[in-house]
Amino acid sequence: MYVVEIEKIVPGGFGLGRIQGKVIFVPYTIPGEQVRVESTVARKDYEIAQTFQMLKPSTDRIQPLCPYFPLCGGCQFHHMEYDTELEIKKGMFQETLRRTAGLKEVPIGLVHSSPFAYRNRVRFHFREDRIGFLAAKGTSLVPIDRCVVCVDEVNRFLQDVWEGRVELGSRSEVTVFGYGGTYFWEGGIREVTLELVGRKVSFPLDSFFQSNVNLLEHLIRTHILPLKGSKILELYGGVGTFGVFLKHNCSLYTMVEEYPHSVQYAGKNLGGGNVRVVQSRVEGWFSRKIFYDTVVLDPPRTGLSSPVREYLQRMAPKNLLYISCNPVTFARDLKYLLGAGYEIESCTLYDFYPRTTHLEVVCRLERP
Ligand SMILES: C[S@@+](CC[C@H](N)C(=O)[O-])C[C@H]1O[C@@H](n2cnc3c(N)ncnc32)[C@H](O)[C@@H]1O
Repeated sequence: MYVVEIEKIVPGGFGLGRIQGKVIFVPYTIPGEQVRVESTVARKDYEIAQTFQMLKPSTDRIQPLCPYFPLCGGCQFHHMEYDTELEIKKGMFQETLRRTAGLKEVPIGLVHSSPFAYRNRVRFHFREDRIGFLAAKGTSLVPIDRCVVCVDEVNRFLQDVWEGRVELGSRSEVTVFGYGGTYFWEGGIREVTLELVGRKVSFPLDSFFQSNVNLLEHLIRTHILPLKGSKILELYGGVGTFGVFLKHNCSLYTMVEEYPHSVQYAGKNLGGGNVRVVQSRVEGWFSRKIFYDTVVLDPPRTGLSSPVREYLQRMAPKNLLYISCNPVTFARDLKYLLGAGYEIESCTLYDFYPRTTHLEVVCRLERP
């Protein structure tokens, strides 16, 4: 048995401490806490605490509002004040920038809303007539009656499943989107139309769409509406959520997206005129004839592949807006882009997923 002091929280949400110099990860802890580790799983370079006793709890520790925490694998941070979570997330991001991009003093903005009842889009698991999320450990199902981070409409869906008003049949997973007083799901209404900052956007449930509509609107107002260019290119454009605004800011707007159903909806959302919607993998599409002065990037967690980074370096647009859901790949790409002559205009964290370790980064870059 070892007494371990938690130094910091690392990506994934684990507390990091040391046993005789060797790193040990302790789940559901807060920096400054002291625990007595009773059993561990050993890996080559580190250990993971399996069972431990809290010796010195942090004053930032709270009683979780969620009754399923920490059994449920959906969230990692219900045991601390929300302000503490935000501070930890900012610290983790700054460390990622330091380690991966070699950047020490980047001013970081932070935008958040309520840590509860924020989540519009969610994917539930369904087994033997029970609906819920997968457990934090293993692959079992944690049945959920009500999820405190989901909007009311999503919780109504859960209630309707439990009370037999919605039949999921042989499905093992189901996507639900709650918005505007109703819920949308794959066996019911499959197309969602919502109004974002005064403009209508439609999408099918099988396409990517952001999960926190409140903060998405903030992001659009603050970073998309002011983005001007004579020709704007958006890579990884989805159903055209940003394009419905960007097309009004330029003489030509081109969007590239690989998923056919998203592209079909992007066509509907964006219409014609100065808009080009291209269905392709970004790597297979590089327009050599047209120069774009402004490029918006919103890649999946893997970030930009090297052909995309090299394309950006070759074309050298003046303005870049990089929206990322993975701080680690973002920091890698940022290092490359800074080396290619870009400078950071602003860098903002959007806490799209309070109570979880996920973070969204919005970074404006410019070539002087
Ligand atoms: C994080 S989502 C962003 C979508 C959109 N910007 C939005 O906010 O709704 C990433 C999108 O990139 C698409 N995608 C992933 N890899 C791609 C690739 N290599 N080429 C083109 N599109 C890709 C996915 O289908 C998804 O729609």
